[in-house]
Amino acid sequence: MYKDFAYIYDKLSFDLNYEKYAQNIKSLVIKNKLKREKMLELACGSGMLTNHFFDFYEKIDALDLSKCMLEVFSNKYQKENVSLYNYDMVDFQNKSSYDLIVILLDSINYILNENDLKKLMENSYKNLKKGGLLIFDINSEYKMKEVFGSKSYIYECEDIFYTWDNIRTDDIIDMELNFFVENEDGTYNRIIENQLERIYSVDFMEKILKENNFSDIEIFDEDDMGKLKDNTLRILFKAKKE
Ligand SMILES: C[S@@+](CC[C@H](N)C(=O)[O-])C[C@H]1O[C@@H](n2cnc3c(N)ncnc32)[C@H](O)[C@@H]1O
Repeated sequence: MYKDFAYIYDKLSFDLNYEKYAQNIKSLVIKNKLKREKMLELACGSGMLTNHFFDFYEKIDALDLSKCMLEVFSNKYQKENVSLYNYDMVDFQNKSSYDLIVILLDSINYILNENDLKKLMENSYKNLKKGGLLIFDINSEYKMKEVFGSKSYIYECEDIFYTWDNIRTDDIIDMELNFFVENEDGTYNRIIENQLERIYSVDFMEKILKENNFSDIEIFDEDDMGKLKDNTLRILFKAKKE
């Protein structure tokens, strides 16, 4: 997961409005009068979101499980106030260190095991300073069941043609993506990417947050920061460590 695919990830994210997603988070930081000393981004990928915070936070720790995604990140951005870590977000511990922890773009849905999700929430709580915020999103149940489901898609984006085949079994979506990337001489390179995402309900996420002592929980439709609707695609959670 996220090996050769990492090198074409940015190109395929053309339809994601990272600037708006970053602005949503910054507004919550300002509204909650949070300090802007140190933030942690878990599953930071290639830094598509992180770069919007380079001048907003004094110090940023960003980590990802994929060495390739981090390589793309560090080839694009070299910032003195940013440290990258190749680490599993479930196990990362740096107690009472951060004003803000962010986990975006359905990275939580890649956690397939409930105990791992609990551990992630437990560690995030420990890693926050008192008064700090955890902000993350998940794909909605609607998106996972109705849009991803057991469906197949075909796309063409600049020099990349790709197929996307999903099989849903209970709460797990098994995705196989086949990318055909055109070379200068007209031949194609094939990249096969297999990913598994798990469906999580809003109630379940809220329960896990509460079990881990988070308070002041707020839930938004990430695309308009309004209330959740039947066809909301991405759900943004904000929770506080009192
Ligand atoms: C959809 S990408 C999102 C990347 C980035 N957050 C963004 O907004 O562009 C999901 C990322 O989660 C990372 N990831 C998945 N499981 C992880 C884990 N257990 N620990 C750290 N990173 C993980 C993947 O390597 C990948 O970079």
